[in-house]
Amino acid sequence: MQVLKTNKTQETATIDFLPLEGTDYVEFYVGNAKQAAHFYKTAFGFKSLAYAGPETGVKEKTSYVIRQNKLTFVLTTALKPDNVIAEHVHKHGDGVKFLALRVNDAKDAWLQTTQRGGKSFMEPKIFTDGQGEVIMSGIHTYGETVHLFIERKNYKGVFMPGFVEWKSNYNPTETGLQYVDHCVGNVGWNQMNKWVSFYEDVMGFRNILSFDDKDISTEYSALMSKVMSSGNGYVKFPINEPAEGKKKSQVEEYLDFYNGEGVQHVAIATKNIIETVTELQNRGVEFLKVPGSYYDTVLDRVGHIDEDLKPLKELGILIDKDDEGYLLQIFTKPLQDRPTLFFEIIQRKGAKSFGKGNFKALFEALEREQALRGNL
Ligand code: FE2
Repeated sequence: MQVLKTNKTQETATIDFLPLEGTDYVEFYVGNAKQAAHFYKTAFGFKSLAYAGPETGVKEKTSYVIRQNKLTFVLTTALKPDNVIAEHVHKHGDGVKFLALRVNDAKDAWLQTTQRGGKSFMEPKIFTDGQGEVIMSGIHTYGETVHLFIERKNYKGVFMPGFVEWKSNYNPTETGLQYVDHCVGNVGWNQMNKWVSFYEDVMGFRNILSFDDKDISTEYSALMSKVMSSGNGYVKFPINEPAEGKKKSQVEEYLDFYNGEGVQHVAIATKNIIETVTELQNRGVEFLKVPGSYYDTVLDRVGHIDEDLKPLKELGILIDKDDEGYLLQIFTKPLQDRPTLFFEIIQRKGAKSFGKGNFKALFEALEREQALRGNL
């Protein structure tokens, strides 16, 4: 594997024209937001936070906001058929529409990115209520996905103007999910470098890691990937492109079922992956499993780890390392019927990488699932 570092690294390190404070929220367009919110609360341990819909003066959609630690999801659905949300769900199924990024100045974020060629989704707009103001702007990225810039430093309300507190007497215990570690996009054939340039030129990101199809190919499921990081490293967006293999790439299967480019997985950090994954499995979350033989040799590859191997093996948690430490990770099966979006659960113990050492075992597991769906 070659770790490629572009020479833009130093340039962008000095002038970060788009300082991002992290992921503000992830908004999903779904077929049934009420049920989706219940699923994410029950299975993943989120709590009700806020709501917008007809009762709050919104006529075309409803949105349920749920939160766990620093992780905020918004589940939005259309109330009418002739509606961009309904069209989005018809075309893509349930999926991520907005990757909302926290900024100190949403107007400047919009100016900086649109001046550099970003296509505007929303000009800076001020939303106010008795709790203060939120300023929001946005630009388009791959597929129909959008980056919103959220400035909420002058807001004290539960979520944002237009939303009311969602009081529910059902708030299951949390599962230890903390925040978004990274979000991966799948793009079409020969489109990866275009989007790498977009993140470099329009958003001031840098390419911190690259994997080519020789690194990431099993017998069948080839792909290429480049990891893009914001100037301060708080936001990371790896970009995948399918590669030619003997049979259909897993990225191609995604593109077919999502009907285009979109978010492949959201990686969520935990401080104790064994506890978190035990709890998630008890609540019915399904994970990709690698063969037990993976654990026969894994410690030869990664060296000493603090955890006992036994629970990792029982749960199917994968281990990888880089120069700075190691990481533990596991991937859910798709979260909806289309084989599109899934989650990764990750615990970093020093490592800043993304688990390349697990790709082969993992992709073989993925191919078994893909074959079961008849899409290999
Ligand atoms: Fe990942």
